[in-house]
Amino acid sequence: MKNITIIGTGYVGLVTGTCFAEKGHQVTCLDIDSEKINALQQGHLPFYEPDLAKLVTKNVAAGRLRFTDSYDQAIRGAQVCFLALPTPSLKDGSCDISYLLMAIEELAQHLKTPLFLVNKSTSPVGTAGKIAQTLHAALKHRDDAPSFEMISNPEFLREGSAVSDCLHPDRIVLGVSSEAAAEFMKELYAPFSVGPDQILIMDIPSAELAKYACNAMLATRVSFMNNLALFCEKVGANVEQIRRVMGGDPRIGEQYLRAGIGFGGSCLPKDVQALRSMALAYDHRMPILDSVLQINQAQLDHFFDKIVTSLSPLSDKTIAMWGLSFKPDTDDLRAAPALFLIEKLLSQGARLQLFDPIAMSKASRLLSKFEKITFCQDEYAAAQGAHALVLTTEWKQFQCVDFDKLGAQMQNKLLFDGRNQYQPSEMQKHGFHYMGIGIPPETIPLSLVHVHPE
Ligand code: UGA
Repeated sequence: MKNITIIGTGYVGLVTGTCFAEKGHQVTCLDIDSEKINALQQGHLPFYEPDLAKLVTKNVAAGRLRFTDSYDQAIRGAQVCFLALPTPSLKDGSCDISYLLMAIEELAQHLKTPLFLVNKSTSPVGTAGKIAQTLHAALKHRDDAPSFEMISNPEFLREGSAVSDCLHPDRIVLGVSSEAAAEFMKELYAPFSVGPDQILIMDIPSAELAKYACNAMLATRVSFMNNLALFCEKVGANVEQIRRVMGGDPRIGEQYLRAGIGFGGSCLPKDVQALRSMALAYDHRMPILDSVLQINQAQLDHFFDKIVTSLSPLSDKTIAMWGLSFKPDTDDLRAAPALFLIEKLLSQGARLQLFDPIAMSKASRLLSKFEKITFCQDEYAAAQGAHALVLTTEWKQFQCVDFDKLGAQMQNKLLFDGRNQYQPSEMQKHGFHYMGIGIPPETIPLSLVHVHPE
């Protein structure tokens, strides 16, 4: 058992801290947001993540997990401190590490005993060095300055499956500069279900860059498929069939080949931009990343154009939208394609009826300034009287829909499926005019889909 401090209670910090506690370590999670800490102390989580609430409750009750807004309390007796802080994009796309450096200044004032300092936040190559310099500078006037050692341990968990990803990692990446640091981290991760070949020990710059390489590769795969999907639409091919062929090749693999309305969230878009700017700072161009970002934007624009072409003018139309979060099983709306689409549709005068299984309260706060939005209690209510239905996030519950009931209450049986969730032939059976992504248009003409002709 080790004494662990985690600075930052966002997705990475809170999930990692909770999972370390679940594995038997003694964990203190620190956040400077006192309201958040108060809420956590009362068992209220700042975001929705499957299975997290019950693990937090269990480990707090067992005395292995606690929350504080005091650096002094958090760092007292800690053997290792993880930094899990936001590293947002600056205007030029580069990564802002100021939250990390501010935390270090504060930490320095309370640090009394030797420490392994582990950066888990996604941050550019050289960040560990900058953190170390900052801490050295802050400690240099102290006679009792304790020793510390930097480690880079990037996180690979996905929102929506964060607890399971953290408890059962594919691999653990450790960027270290000493044998002692590697040994300490191996002991820390010993209770996790990982074999020795899943612990990848390397130099610190490689560990820092590896995280960006992974996210950029995932984004590249998605953009490749999205770009291909638009070509499929031109030549009458079906990207879903092509995906099966590609995924069946073990050299390619099945994952991150789903065409849709583009990748979103707080990581992929930000990290592709950050890698691009990081490379440029070293006078190295990565044009593939420019294309990845351009394709991602074009994908959403193309989807919007399809809606406009079918329904124009939008000013007298009501559009139902299913799914607001950037992906299922999370209430995270950051860089959610649905939000971009909502703004575009509203700018054309459309009236929107929205539903999301989990993200409704966050969305209603965020979109409160828009008048032509109605937040609906379920997917059917959202579709009531709508001229079209747009699926933006593939929540599981949208897979079991009574399409006859749904169709009967819509103005038009017109479905824009931004995630290729439905079978065109099935939709046709229910009389829907169906438009997926990279799927040949099916045969029911738009003129026949009016349920209630105006
Ligand atoms: C991503 C990475 O997958 C994690 O490994 C990483 O730890 C995390 O970023 C991070 O850096 O913190 P996450 O942002 O939670 O995780 O989301 P993903 O599940 O990767 O999905 C990202 C976006 O890609 C979503 O908008 C999703 O809809 C889209 N996507 C994904 C597709 O459009 N097609 C696919 O085939 C897969």
